[in-house]
Amino acid sequence: MTVGGCELLVTGASGLLGWNVACRASGRAVGTYRRRAVEGAPFRMAPLDLADETAVEALCSTLRPRAVIHCAAISDPVRCEAEPEEATEANLRGTARVARAAARAGARLVAISTDLVFDGERGRYRETDPAHPISHYGWTKLRGEEEALAACPDAAVLRVSLLCGSSRTGLESTSERLLAALAAGQTPTLYEDEFRTPTPVGPLAAAVLEFAWGRAASARGVYHLAGPERLSRHALGLRLLGHAGSPPSRVRRGSIRDHVGRPPRAPDTSLESARAAALLGGPLPPVDGAC
Ligand SMILES: NC(=O)c1ccc[n+]([C@@H]2O[C@H](COP(=O)([O-])OP(=O)(O)OC[C@H]3O[C@@H](n4cnc5c(N)ncnc54)[C@H](OP(=O)(O)O)[C@@H]3O)[C@@H](O)[C@H]2O)c1
Repeated sequence: MTVGGCELLVTGASGLLGWNVACRASGRAVGTYRRRAVEGAPFRMAPLDLADETAVEALCSTLRPRAVIHCAAISDPVRCEAEPEEATEANLRGTARVARAAARAGARLVAISTDLVFDGERGRYRETDPAHPISHYGWTKLRGEEEALAACPDAAVLRVSLLCGSSRTGLESTSERLLAALAAGQTPTLYEDEFRTPTPVGPLAAAVLEFAWGRAASARGVYHLAGPERLSRHALGLRLLGHAGSPPSRVRRGSIRDHVGRPPRAPDTSLESARAAALLGGPLPPVDGAC
């Protein structure tokens, strides 16, 4: 596919965050997909496999973007545990390839990472707190951060948390999945003792663009970029139920003590995002029913 030049390259644009970012870039973006080609996207799309070093390099040198926002990843921690080599290839080595290609093209790099670089023993993490992942997913993302900053020392690495709000398919974010489970007649169990900083994906996408070419365009290093509230999964579920007009009895209370299987659940990976808020002129809004 010939895509010509562009101002912004968004990897992982068939996914939840990448789609929201590329849609907000007012036709200035080229977005990549791997398996899910998208018909009728409001931006140009190109296929890309992060395992293919030549393809990553060729795309960047052809497009010569001003900025690269790297959202592509194997983002499901359970899948990363089951397919560790594939996860390492995409999240660690793939991020290194994107970062090297961005550096050679002279593009600003914004690389997306995760709150799951922390073990969750303390919560309200700042950027200066030592990371200690307890899952293979968290480990690949932390090593990806290091590779991004090694190749592009001026890059911004943005650690985001649980994403809520609208996706392209209507079935990808935490809020969409919960509401879909309810609509299917299920009674999901939500942990009362697992805390995150849930984040509305629309405002997050706008903030990510600020790091590419807006008021945070010269920010370098690691930033936490998450919603302002520390909420348990159960509390988040009740809020979403309230907005949907459903009674609290539609979800069950659970505990991470009852969790079986890999990866283990990190109790509290909530993020403090004051550093990003100071750059952006304020915090991201909380998750509400319309996020
Ligand atoms: N979702 C969350 O709650 C959350 C929380 C914290 C951090 N994050 C981070 O935020 C970023 C975006 O997450 P997301 O939820 O938007 O992810 P997502 O919906 O799972 O989308 C992942 C994207 O990456 C692409 N991709 C996957 N493997 C690839 C590969 N080997 N080569 C090229 N492209 C590949 C997918 O393409 P196809 O679908 O076309 O195959 C898709 O476009 C990730 O860095 C993730 O770690 C997400």
